[in-house]
Amino acid sequence: METPEQLRDILLKEAADADTLDALEALRVSALGKKGRITDLMKGLGQMDPDARKAAGQALNALKDEVAAAIDAKKTTLADADLDRRLMTEKIDVTLPSSPQADGYVHPISQTIDEIIAIFGEMGFTVAEGPDIEDDWHNFTALNIPPDHPARQEHDTFYLPGEHGERKVLRTHTSPTQIRTMTAHKPPIRIVVPGRTYRSDYDATHSPMFHQIEGLVIDKTSHMGHLKGCLIEFCRAFFEVDDLPVRFRPSYFPFTEPSAEVDIGCTREGGGLRIGHGDDWLEILGSGMVNPNVLRNCGIDPEEYQGFAFGMGIERVAMLKYGIPDLRTFYESDLRWLRHYGFRSLEVPGMVGGLVR
Ligand code: DAH
Repeated sequence: METPEQLRDILLKEAADADTLDALEALRVSALGKKGRITDLMKGLGQMDPDARKAAGQALNALKDEVAAAIDAKKTTLADADLDRRLMTEKIDVTLPSSPQADGYVHPISQTIDEIIAIFGEMGFTVAEGPDIEDDWHNFTALNIPPDHPARQEHDTFYLPGEHGERKVLRTHTSPTQIRTMTAHKPPIRIVVPGRTYRSDYDATHSPMFHQIEGLVIDKTSHMGHLKGCLIEFCRAFFEVDDLPVRFRPSYFPFTEPSAEVDIGCTREGGGLRIGHGDDWLEILGSGMVNPNVLRNCGIDPEEYQGFAFGMGIERVAMLKYGIPDLRTFYESDLRWLRHYGFRSLEVPGMVGGLVR
């Protein structure tokens, strides 16, 4: 058997010579492991007399520490060298185009929101957002829907407890963001507001959570003609029918005066529905000139400013455009449905003329 001094020289040389992390690990086991060479020497201590044992024990412990430190140091050197080598050889070209993924689809709701925003974006609208949890003031009162107004009952509102006895609501429409925008910003204003809305309702065309997109234009000169031009242009671009018939039908909303519902032309021959020329009409959105009371509630002088607003259900127009028969399927996360109705991530809606599938 080697003396501790000889073993020291051998092991330190082996550590210096090890050129892979695996070789170094093998050396560690063979020197310091349960049946290792230093461990073997330590077992011999038992047969020594106490004085000799003390000195030899200290020497062996020092040897053990020295060898362990040498192995650790070499390990760091090898790992650094390995990293350097990988940095030299493995290169990522960040300028390469990403490869399209075989799986993963854009949900038709997201796609439809993107398409609508692209069309209004072309007309100079920007996107605004508001909270899903609203208060009575923004969801109702400021929109000219006072507490005893029948429209409050029609909304099937989800109420939540709020602070100081003031209840909160899950917003029943995106219209409260009109109030938030007009209160925070001076006109001119030209926004669209996509987002989630909530009503206690559930069947093939209603879901307790659904999506709307709101539009609001406030300036000194906008009038009903602008409202009509803007919405006709939108309907034709979105449904990709250049001469789509669009009809404005007098209606009532508390926050607009006058108000109009917007219908598009369609046919229902042979059980199917086709958007375009025909003998029938389909309602797709609500609109009107912003009620002066609403402007006043936001600190805007109706003698100086006016404008128009509109609101539309995203699911409804997505169902019409893409032939989706049941609204509840939007939220079932059925992969077969998503593959069928979803969109490839690179199918960016065109800025002009809608989307080419
Ligand atoms: N907030 C209405 C609803 O949810 C939709 C609507 C109608 C919005 C007319 C408007 C509007 O901005 O002018 O039924």
